[in-house]
Amino acid sequence: MNILVTGGAGFVGSHLVEKLLEDGHKVTVIDDLSTGRIDNIRHLTCDKNLTVRIGTILNEQLMSKLVSKADFIYHLAAAVGVKYVIENPLRSIQTNVKGTEIVLELAEKLSRGNRRKKVLITSTSEVYGKNEKIPFKETDDRVMGPTTISRWSYSCAKAMDEFLALAYWREKRLPVIIVRLFNTCGPRQVSDYGMVIPRFIEQALRDKPLTVYGDGRQTRSFLYVDDAVRAIVSLSKNPKAVGEIFNIGSSERITIAGLASRIVTMTGSRSAIKLVPYEKVYTKGFEDMRHRFPNTAKIHGLTGFRIRYTLKDTLENMIEDARIRISKGGAKACC
Ligand SMILES: NC(=O)c1ccc[n+]([C@@H]2O[C@H](COP(=O)([O-])OP(=O)(O)OC[C@H]3O[C@@H](n4cnc5c(N)ncnc54)[C@H](O)[C@@H]3O)[C@@H](O)[C@H]2O)c1
Repeated sequence: MNILVTGGAGFVGSHLVEKLLEDGHKVTVIDDLSTGRIDNIRHLTCDKNLTVRIGTILNEQLMSKLVSKADFIYHLAAAVGVKYVIENPLRSIQTNVKGTEIVLELAEKLSRGNRRKKVLITSTSEVYGKNEKIPFKETDDRVMGPTTISRWSYSCAKAMDEFLALAYWREKRLPVIIVRLFNTCGPRQVSDYGMVIPRFIEQALRDKPLTVYGDGRQTRSFLYVDDAVRAIVSLSKNPKAVGEIFNIGSSERITIAGLASRIVTMTGSRSAIKLVPYEKVYTKGFEDMRHRFPNTAKIHGLTGFRIRYTLKDTLENMIEDARIRISKGGAKACC
């Protein structure tokens, strides 16, 4: 199959591309390298089934060429990470709303007869906002903060992507699948844009204090990227997933302070753990969600999907990856 992966040089995208190539597909990546890195896919570039285009999904002419050749589009390109979204509010909204609209519009326009192009949209657990329910079901309410707090724009933009995708399915019969990824992590994820595990690991490996934002009692569940990719691919093959939304996440929950002390122990670090008020890191009045934990009965019921990696496995793999990255200065071999 001819597959287009937007954001394919990003963290999740690069692992997905690896899997799709392994499965024998012809894969085209489009990425503007705003948060992604060519190093993430350098080891794949000698594969004759991979084409990489550096450019933006906001370039309709380029996207038209790429979408026209694709049977299936995994749409991952987005402005991602709390820190990045707060620092780049306009660019984030444009990429996350307009970019998705371009993908959906072209997929519909360039579909021929019965050969409908299929689109999988990567949404996020952020769409649930400040709802304090544990766990979240796909049909649960969204609870948003005010528009003056720019972190909520990410949640709203991704929710608009979902509305758009569902509208294309209902009105135009464009087959779409929506996945809501909960905190996904693994090798190649970097700390630059506000991702907590890579940041803690780097701090621990450098014997610097692990900075826990807020009171540290907020909880999260962390999904290993290989599990996320398996879940995404299993849904993309299932005709009953079309027009549906699925939570994808881990069933192990941990406080952020607990996560920090686990990483200190696992790395053998001499680091202390330091609580830092949110407003010192982000803007005044910053709001976070207390808990974020998925109900994954829907994906399990449809595909039988279960996670394979525990949090311990996840942390071990990420610590190993960070040690290699730090010792080699980030360089990766070309194939
Ligand atoms: N990692 C997570 O915990 C998580 C959680 C929820 C949802 N998601 C979603 O999964 C997807 C992938 O996220 P990720 O964690 O791999 O982040 P990432 O930043 O590594 O990947 C996003 C990729 O999109 C690219 N990109 C951004 N704007 C672009 C544009 N205009 N044109 C082309 N490429 C562009 C970036 O360069 C990057 O490679 C995103 O849609 C994100 O919202 C991720």
